[in-house]
Amino acid sequence: MFSFIIAVGENNEMGLNNHLPWHLPKEIGYFRSVTEWHTIIMGRKTFESLPRVLPNRKHIILTRDENYKYDHPDVVIVNSLDEVFDKVKTEEENIIIGGAEIFRLFLPYTNRIYLTVVHKKFDADTFFFKLDMDQWIESKKWDAVMDDKNNIPYTYYILDRKKS
Ligand SMILES: NC(=O)c1ccc[n+]([C@@H]2O[C@H](COP(=O)([O-])OP(=O)(O)OC[C@H]3O[C@@H](n4cnc5c(N)ncnc54)[C@H](OP(=O)(O)O)[C@@H]3O)[C@@H](O)[C@H]2O)c1
Repeated sequence: MFSFIIAVGENNEMGLNNHLPWHLPKEIGYFRSVTEWHTIIMGRKTFESLPRVLPNRKHIILTRDENYKYDHPDVVIVNSLDEVFDKVKTEEENIIIGGAEIFRLFLPYTNRIYLTVVHKKFDADTFFFKLDMDQWIESKKWDAVMDDKNNIPYTYYILDRKKS
């Protein structure tokens, strides 16, 4: 099974200069709680935007560069979607963490989206695409708790693909 975890602004903004457009420490804590102990799959640009290899997660990185190397026991580099399918256990939840190119690639295979909507507009150069909400059901929705570390309101959603 594949899931997405994604945070967007009010205009589906998701990145600026290879970083997140906002600083929301508790949202990062939520990201950790969802992804820890899972395989996470990402594009090379998102990988390079991470501060470090994330603990307790196997990382699969997609690049078209066959010479791309990263020497770490939790990092696997692949060059195609087929190679990702070879490396994952499809009976487990494998989580796509972005960016936009990789979400597009995996959309047909994905059944769950952990979506955070940040209630503000941001400068951005990378955007998430508009979801066809006829295909998705909102299974859960809750607002983030506001405090001095979370000073912009945002809402968590869990969307599941409708059974056809
Ligand atoms: N808001 C969020 O939740 C969130 C989540 C993740 C990322 N982001 C942000 O999104 C931005 C990055 O997203 P992005 O869309 O520009 O880049 P990306 O999806 O992270 O990475 C794109 C790269 O993936 C590789 N790739 C793409 N399709 C491939 C394929 N079919 N086969 C093999 N490799 C493939 C290519 O790497 P090569 O160029 O090496 O060939 C491509 O340049 C950053 O600003 C980041 O901070 C935001």
